[in-house]
Amino acid sequence: MRVLVTGGAGFIGSHLVTRLLGDGHDVRVLDDLSTGKRENLAHLAAADVELVVGDVRDGATVDACARGCEVVFHEAAIVSVPYSVEHPQTSHDVNLQGTLNVLLAARAQGVRRVVFACSAAVYGDEPTLPKREDMAASPISPYGIEKIAGEQYVLAWPKLYGVEGVSLRYFNVFGPRQDPRSPYSGVISVFVDRARAGREITVFGDGEQSRDFVFVEDVVQANVLAATVPSASGRAYNIGRGARTTLNELLAMLERIVDRPLAVRHEPPRAGDIRDSLADVSRAREELGFAPRVAIEEGLRRLIGG
Ligand code: NAD
Ligand code: UD1
Repeated sequence: MRVLVTGGAGFIGSHLVTRLLGDGHDVRVLDDLSTGKRENLAHLAAADVELVVGDVRDGATVDACARGCEVVFHEAAIVSVPYSVEHPQTSHDVNLQGTLNVLLAARAQGVRRVVFACSAAVYGDEPTLPKREDMAASPISPYGIEKIAGEQYVLAWPKLYGVEGVSLRYFNVFGPRQDPRSPYSGVISVFVDRARAGREITVFGDGEQSRDFVFVEDVVQANVLAATVPSASGRAYNIGRGARTTLNELLAMLERIVDRPLAVRHEPPRAGDIRDSLADVSRAREELGFAPRVAIEEGLRRLIGG
């Protein structure tokens, strides 16, 4: 089938594109290359993937890209929470209007299903763990608000217009091609980058905070299942491993892998940090058949090897 991946030149999107091509699909990518890069797709034959450099804020462009597609995977977004706090209008335009544009295009072009990249940020800082999809969302940032609003659009589309919609609430995704160089980069990408270079690692706080880290290939698996399982339409799913890892545990694994002690400096906790995060992934397991396969240490080894 022909599929569209918005944000397909980004970290998660480029892994999804690779898998979809491997599965024999025709893949079109819509990406404005703001954080995505052509080189994220450079391992693929140029003839195999159609890259449209364009903006999800432009409805006509999204509409043209959706033409002839059976499924749209909507990964494009400005992913920085702090950016959304500083620039709520731009963040809204890309993350919410962009999602509405994708849904309008899907309706106009007869797309069968839209799979939406949502986020654990919809849960905010309410401390109850693990997070279940039937808990009330309580986002605390424009980014989280845009993600939950986008999800509600996606889940309403089946009943309103007959376009199937599935929302995947990713927890902390890690893996190759995640950019370690921004101040808000995922902690694993930063730690691995520094460990490889032999540079000092900064831990904000005591290192006992924990996250539900999930390897990017498992997130790709969830997307493929979300595109195909008929009963998934109209549903939201947590996508994590269903296990927590502390930063201190990550550091111990990294020391084993690089086989030398790491230089670690502690700084005060980052403002606004949550202490712990954990997904209940039983809904995705039961309804999608989702089974995360890559253990954290295995993922770290692949990341360092790659
Ligand atoms: P990323 O920044 O690598 O990917 C986002 C892609 O969207 C980039 O290629 C970027 O160029 C593109 N993009 C941004 N604005 C655009 C616009 N206006 N028009 C067209 N393309 C645009 O980040 P990622 O981590 O791969 O994130 C992918 C999706 O997953 C996002 O929707 C993000 O919110 C979601 N997500 C990621 C994580 C995580 O841990 N990485 C967690 C929760 C949710
Ligand atoms: C994620 C988002 C963040 C958002 C938050 C809200 C990513 C990459 N970040 O943050 O933008 O505000 O969800 O839900 O998706 N850390 C260090 N040293 C470092 C980098 C990070 O100690 O060099 C710590 C952080 O302080 C934090 C933990 O590592 O305690 C994880 O950080 P991060 O990877 O940014 O993820 P979240 O905190 O979950």
